[in-house]
Amino acid sequence: MAAEVRGDKLWGGRFTGSRNPIMEMLNASITYDRRLSEVDIQGSKAYAKALEKAGILSKPELEKILSGLEKISEEWSKGVFVVKQTDEDIHTANERRLKELIGDVAGKLHTGRSRNDQVVTDLRMFMRNSLSVISTHLLQLIKTLVERAATEIDVILPGYTHLQKAQPIRWSQFLLSHAVALTRDSERLGEVKRRINVLPLGSGALAGNPLEIDRELLRSELGFASISLNSMDAVSERDFVVEFLSFATLLMIHLSKMAEDLIIYSTSEFGFLTLSDAYSTGSSLMPQKKNPDSLELIRSKAGRVFGRLAAILMVLKGLPSTYNKDLQEDKEAVFDVVDTLNAVLQVATGVISTLQIKKVNMEKALCPEMLSTDLALYLVRKGMPFRQAHIASGKVVNLAESKRMAINKLSLDDMKTISPLFDNDVSQVFNIVNSVEQYRAMGGTAKNSVNAQIEQLRELLKKLKEQA
Ligand code: ARG
Repeated sequence: MAAEVRGDKLWGGRFTGSRNPIMEMLNASITYDRRLSEVDIQGSKAYAKALEKAGILSKPELEKILSGLEKISEEWSKGVFVVKQTDEDIHTANERRLKELIGDVAGKLHTGRSRNDQVVTDLRMFMRNSLSVISTHLLQLIKTLVERAATEIDVILPGYTHLQKAQPIRWSQFLLSHAVALTRDSERLGEVKRRINVLPLGSGALAGNPLEIDRELLRSELGFASISLNSMDAVSERDFVVEFLSFATLLMIHLSKMAEDLIIYSTSEFGFLTLSDAYSTGSSLMPQKKNPDSLELIRSKAGRVFGRLAAILMVLKGLPSTYNKDLQEDKEAVFDVVDTLNAVLQVATGVISTLQIKKVNMEKALCPEMLSTDLALYLVRKGMPFRQAHIASGKVVNLAESKRMAINKLSLDDMKTISPLFDNDVSQVFNIVNSVEQYRAMGGTAKNSVNAQIEQLRELLKKLKEQA
């Protein structure tokens, strides 16, 4: 690119030297911030109205600017807006086009406004819209888990700690454990959305607005809930970006954990479930393979999203007050994470709603040894202190192991050598459904308790939907 005088820039007046093409590239954000085109125009329309109210624009001038902006909005939505090489960012591009369309009066639009308050207003508006979509996808995923839990409430499988067989649980208890984590994410998202909904426009470059711009008019035109309190803070704070990325990171951590559980359950070694073809891929070399790529991608995106959070925190650390160009980094992070969440949440919902469980294999994996705790509880119910009962039950496991048999196959006489409290009714301990049904206290895996969780989650979903 040939060296040019910078008169074509918004800020070209004080410059006479030529620009460096690589620096131009590094400086430009138009390749990605064009995603703000629509909200940028909405912000400009509101600002033009405020300028008219402040006496800077006449009524006809306002009309001209509004119709020019409308035309630009159409160009963007039809995909015919032509970005020029000299357009540094979306704000520059829209203003340049406005001048082409309506002439010099376009130059009045930026009076008292700075790209510093403009860009952060745009980003807040963009995020407001995007976060509502994310919220809807997230609620859909939670609903899918809850409804699946309601349908398959009678299915029982091993529950794990340390990835070792621990106690039998309902498949629904497992599904709901993930749903509950996601409801916390949904609540956090609502909180982030509330904090995004604050209007920075009217803060100028850093000192505020010298034209007695009516910020209340700006607020109501743009649908913000409140107005930022301090101009220096308003142009520089990106807490809402950090909060969104933190929310997203924790959500992805939850999804990666769910993905990992399902990957393990889908192996032939476990064989608890199969993913539908729509969410699996094959191997280019091994014809027999059906790989859980959807889940692996969900798991991997957690790393990507956290990377974005770490990056923005590093950008913000130690920045001097008010606007610095470093802040331009915020947008790619937000766009990338918005896109990632939208894709991941929809794929996760698809995976959950289409996977098939293999009930027989789940049941086969339930071994009598998983009922050793229940055996101890049997003795507790007959008056033995739990610590002793734990040891006695351990001895039963040990005895069965030495006889190379399952604990439910030991004779009553054998068991009586360990404790005289063992009696005929001990056989009832080795019933899986009975075992699960003991866990009736709130939050447990008994049917009643699981049903109560389902009801509560359905209610919570209704509330969360209202705020989405
Ligand atoms: N493209 C810039 C950004 O994304 C807009 C703000 C530029 N402000 C400035 N003073 N250079 O942050």
